[in-house]
Order: sequence, then C-alpha cells, then structure tokens
Amino acid sequence: MEIKAIGCEPLQLKRVHLENSHTLKVYQENDGYKWLKKAMNMSPDTIINEVKASVLRGRGGAGFPTGMKWSFVPKDSPKEKYIVCNADESEPGTFKDRYLMERDPHALIEGMLIAAFALGSRACYIYTRGEYKYLIDIMDAAIEEARAANLVGKNILGSDFSCEVYTHTGAGAYICGEETALLSSLEGYRGHPRMKPPFPAVEGLYASPTVVNNVETLTAVPQIIEMGGVAWRDLGTEKSGGTKLWSVSGHVKKPGVYELPMGYADMEKFIMEDCGGIRNGHNLKGVIPGGSSVYIMRADDVIGKKVLMDYEGLVAAGSLVGSGGFIVIDETVDIVDSTKNLSEFYKHESCGWCTPCREGTDWIVKIFNRIASGGGRPEDAQLLLDLCDNIEGKSFCALGDAAAWAIQGAIKRFPEDFMPYLNGQKTASIEPEAQKF
Ligand SMILES: Cc1cc2nc3c(=O)[nH]c(=O)nc-3n(C[C@H](O)[C@H](O)[C@H](O)COP(=O)(O)O)c2cc1C
Ligand code: SF4
Repeated sequence: MEIKAIGCEPLQLKRVHLENSHTLKVYQENDGYKWLKKAMNMSPDTIINEVKASVLRGRGGAGFPTGMKWSFVPKDSPKEKYIVCNADESEPGTFKDRYLMERDPHALIEGMLIAAFALGSRACYIYTRGEYKYLIDIMDAAIEEARAANLVGKNILGSDFSCEVYTHTGAGAYICGEETALLSSLEGYRGHPRMKPPFPAVEGLYASPTVVNNVETLTAVPQIIEMGGVAWRDLGTEKSGGTKLWSVSGHVKKPGVYELPMGYADMEKFIMEDCGGIRNGHNLKGVIPGGSSVYIMRADDVIGKKVLMDYEGLVAAGSLVGSGGFIVIDETVDIVDSTKNLSEFYKHESCGWCTPCREGTDWIVKIFNRIASGGGRPEDAQLLLDLCDNIEGKSFCALGDAAAWAIQGAIKRFPEDFMPYLNGQKTASIEPEAQKF
C-alpha cells in the first residue's frame, strides 16, 4: 500500500513512516504534545478563532466548518461538555482514520485534548466500530502512556486543566457513524439517530453540549496550533483549507492513503500518474471519489477536465469530497452489478427507524435482484429513480440520502450498463475480477 503526500509536505502523514511511530517517545521526539502546551497558554477563544481561520472542514463526510461547530457550544452551560471522536469509519472505501490511529495515535489524543481545553471539556470519547477492536488496544495503550506522562487525567502538565480520554467500540453498524446514532450507542442504547435540532453541540451526549469530530479533523488541530490558522488554510484553498487524506482503492496500480493539498489541481493526473494508472492495461471507467455515498463520476467527467480535488471542485464536477474514500473503477466493472452490491449494503445497514429508508432500500434490492436474474423491464430505470426520489430528503437521517445518491448516480451516469439488462439482453454474468472494488 502506498502511503505518501503529493504536492505538499506531509502533515497528517508526517510521522507514520517512523519506527514505533505509535509510541509516546517517538511522538515527543517529533514535537508531539508541544502544541497542547502552546494551546494551554492561549485563551479558549483564541484557539477557536485559529481553527475558524484555518477553514478546516470536517473530514467525516459532511465538510462542516470545524471552528464554527466549536463556537456553537454554549460557553455558559452549567452542564459537562464532551468531545467525541467519530472513529467509526464505516463508509465503504474509507480507511485513512484506521491508518492514523494505528500509526499516530498520540496525534489524535493531542487534538482531542486541545479541543477539550478550548471548549471546557473534562471528558473525551473515541468511538470505533466493533471491527476496529485492535485499534482500541492501540489507543488504550497510547492513552495510558500519556497518562503516565501527566498528559491525560488530573491536572495536565501541572495545570488546573483535567481531562480523561475513554475508548468505546460499537458492534459494527454503519448507522453508528452518523453522529447522533453514535451518541445513542455510546450511551448504551440501540444506535438510532436522533432528531436535529437540537444539534449535538447544544444537546449531545447525555443531553449535554458535545462536539463530534472525525479522526482526521482532530489530528489536524495540533497542526493548526503549530502553524497558525491562516498558514494552515493557505496550504489549501480559501474555502477548503489545509491538506486532506484520500483512501485510494480499486483498480489503480498503487492504492493507498494519499495526502494532498486541498484544491490539488487535477484528478486525472492523480489517478493516472500519482496512483500509477489503471492496472492490467485497462481503461478508467469511473470514480466514486468520496466514499460510496457520493455520486459516481464517469471517466469522461475526469479525463481532460482538470477536476480540482476540494469541496468546491468536486461539487462543480458533479460529486462530493465526502469522506475521501476514492474508489477507482476500470472497464471490467459492470455498474449494474457494483450498484446492486451497494444497494444491498444500504438495505442491510438501514436501521429500520423510518419508512422511506427501511422500505425503499428493500424494494431497490428486490428490483436489482430481478434485473440481474433476467427479469429487467424498460421502465425499471425510472422505477428505481422514483424509489430514490421517495427516499432522498424524506428520510429521518442522511443514510437514506446516501442510499439514494449511490443508485441515482449509477443509473443517470451509466445508462449504457443498465440498458442491456432492461431490454432482456443480459443477465448477471459477472466476472470475479469485476467484483473486486
Ligand atoms: C450513515 C452515516 C454514516 C457516517 N459515518 C461516519 C463515519 O464513519 N465517520 C465519521 O467521521 N463521520 C461519519 N458520518 C458523518 C457524521 O454524522 C458527522 O458528520 C461527523 O462525524 C462530524 O465530524 P466532522 O465534522 O469532523 O466531519 C456519517 C454520517 C452518516 C449519515
Ligand atoms: S434514514 Fe434509514 S438509517 Fe436513517 S433513521 Fe431512517 S431507517 Fe434509519
């Protein structure tokens, strides 16, 4: 697997290649926890303003400005305030958070502590999916090392700032990555999403003000304190600050975790040169750039188009940055089959709470099964789009929208793959190679 920064100095990936990079010793030899010390000599408002100035946008998928989210936490609330790290990483195609926690766990702890100091919190939680149990062991060991060095726990570095860091695993459900379902799960309830508003910043964990941030969002915070918000922003663009990790998988020669400056100038170059191009001499067919929940792009949306890799660039190109789960698809892939596979994922992961998503995702799978087994009808494309229309914007949480976008994108952008199935000319004859993405 390729792990590297392109077009910028590595920041998120600065320490990951070092031997024993997960240890406190190596972290501190490389300036670790220096930025917590610096932050503790700043006022909370100054820290929040630096994060605002950095234009750091949440790396979990929605891209919400982090400094603004932090500023929504009511300062005068008598309740406890909580920092929750969303390390669920359940979006298909996304694996950068796992890598950060495996190789640089102290960066996450330092980022959380700076957030806790800025927001007046005394407790941080790291929530992972059940499958990441081994990461919890790594995080727990790092927390204990930090505690022994008086960096976690009571009177951190001899100050009056005390803060605990706890880890917690879910049972492995995609919905528990949705921030309010995560909070329900963390409280010990079934992972159902909650009504928003109130947003977690006002009423989150145990009905108290809570900031939920992704791993990569929080590991960027020490960098922002080190460089200053504006300098960090200027690594990227005015509206998409800093650098971003992309989890690259699929049919490129060099899959891996890549760090790029926001606004990296050309998606085609990224695929064809930086990631080594398409494997086995095949051609590019499409890309899902931000995890399975964003619109799929066609090769001709990318080739010769100089697509900018940032929030604005991907919207202009008809998709989204999402979680940065960059899935490259070559011409061997049957988009009907790959989309059927995704529809099964969304059906399986629908929590069943609301009717449009629970029933709609089930019907979509039934129709895909019929199409794949030779029973396709010309009107099925529209039928699927109508079903998506009844899910998108009409479901209780964004999982429903995500399920609809995955299907809509495939039908609208790859009609030539659907047509033979709908005309009764094709049944699923899927080559094993084509299923691997
Ligand atoms: C179905 C669903 C799954 C999600 N999964 C994740 C996830 O695994 N990790 C994550 O950080 N955010 C996930 N999110 C986004 C979170 O709800 C939330 O926006 C994010 O944790 C906020 O952190 P950020 O501002 O740092 O991005 C998911 C959202 C939805 C709707
Ligand atoms: S949209 Fe789906 S996942 Fe979200 S609450 Fe409704 S049923 Fe559950």
